Amino acid sequence: MKTLVTIGRGGTGKSSFTALMAKCFIEAGFAPLLLVDADPDQNLAEMLGLDLKEAGKATMAELIVDTFIEKGGTTVGVSPTERIESRLLANGLYEGEHFDFMSVGTKWVEGCYCMPNSALKAALESVTKNYQYVLIDSPAGLEHLNRRIASKVNDIFDILDHSKKSLDHVKRAYHIAKEVDMEFDNFYLIGGYRFPAELGSKAEADLKFKYLGKIVADEQVDDYVLNGKSLLDLPSDNAAFASVKAIMKATGYIHQ
Ligand SMILES: Nc1ncnc2c1ncn2[C@@H]1O[C@H](COP(=O)(O)OP(=O)(O)O)[C@@H](O)[C@H]1O
Ligand SMILES: [Mg+2]
Repeated sequence: MKTLVTIGRGGTGKSSFTALMAKCFIEAGFAPLLLVDADPDQNLAEMLGLDLKEAGKATMAELIVDTFIEKGGTTVGVSPTERIESRLLANGLYEGEHFDFMSVGTKWVEGCYCMPNSALKAALESVTKNYQYVLIDSPAGLEHLNRRIASKVNDIFDILDHSKKSLDHVKRAYHIAKEVDMEFDNFYLIGGYRFPAELGSKAEADLKFKYLGKIVADEQVDDYVLNGKSLLDLPSDNAAFASVKAIMKATGYIHQ
C-alpha cells in the first residue's frame, strides 16, 4: 500500500493536482484506489464529479459527531474504533467504479478530542489496508493529518506558488513532520500552476528537496473547476494533465 499526500498553501492547486494524479492512476489501471479529501475547502469531490450528499454519504467529522457526541454513551461490547469503522464503511465511504472516496469534513468538535481522534485513526488504518494506493488532499497542517488520519505516508508533495510564503511553508511543513514523528519516504517539491518554472532549480537548491517539475497553467482546467466539471473527463492530451503525468513519471509510479 502506498500513501501519497498533497500539501501546500491555499489556492496553490492541491486539489486539482490530486484529481489529476487520480486520473493518471486510473488510466494506468491502478486499483484499488482510495481518495481522501482532508481539505476543509472540500472541493475535491466536485473535481472528481462526485456529489457526496446526493450519494447519501457523510463526512468523517459528521460521522464522529453523530456517533460519539450527539448519540452519547457507549454501546456495550463495541469499541469506539469498531463503531466508527462500521459507520465509515456504511455511511462515509463512497464506492465508485474506478476509485473510492471519503471526505474528512469540517464539522469537528474541538476539545473533545482524544477518543474520537484515536478511534478514527485506527478505523482509517483498518479501512485503508484494503487499498493499493491512497491519495490524500491535505490542508497545510501535517500535524492535523498526523493526529487524525495517518502518521505513516510514502510521499509528501508540497505544491509551490510564486510567493516567498510558499517556500516558508515547505520548511515549516518539513519541520512539523519531523516534530510530530510523521514517517515518510519522500518529501517532494512541485511547482504549482502559478510557480515560475525557472525557479524550480533554485527552490531545489535552497530547500534541498527534490523538485519534480511544474504543473502547467491551463485554461481548460480552470474552466472545468469553475463550472464544476470533473477533471477526470479532461482530454488525455490536456497540457496540465500531461504535466502531472510527467511529474508522476519522475516519482517512478508511472512508466509511460
Ligand atoms: N493547472 C491549472 N491551471 C489553471 N488554473 C488552475 C490550475 N489548477 C488549479 N487552477 C485554479 O486555481 C484555483 C485553486 O485550485 P485548487 O486546486 O482548488 O487549489 P487548492 O486546493 O490548493 O486550494 C481553482 O480556481 C482552479 O480553477
Ligand atoms: Mg483544495
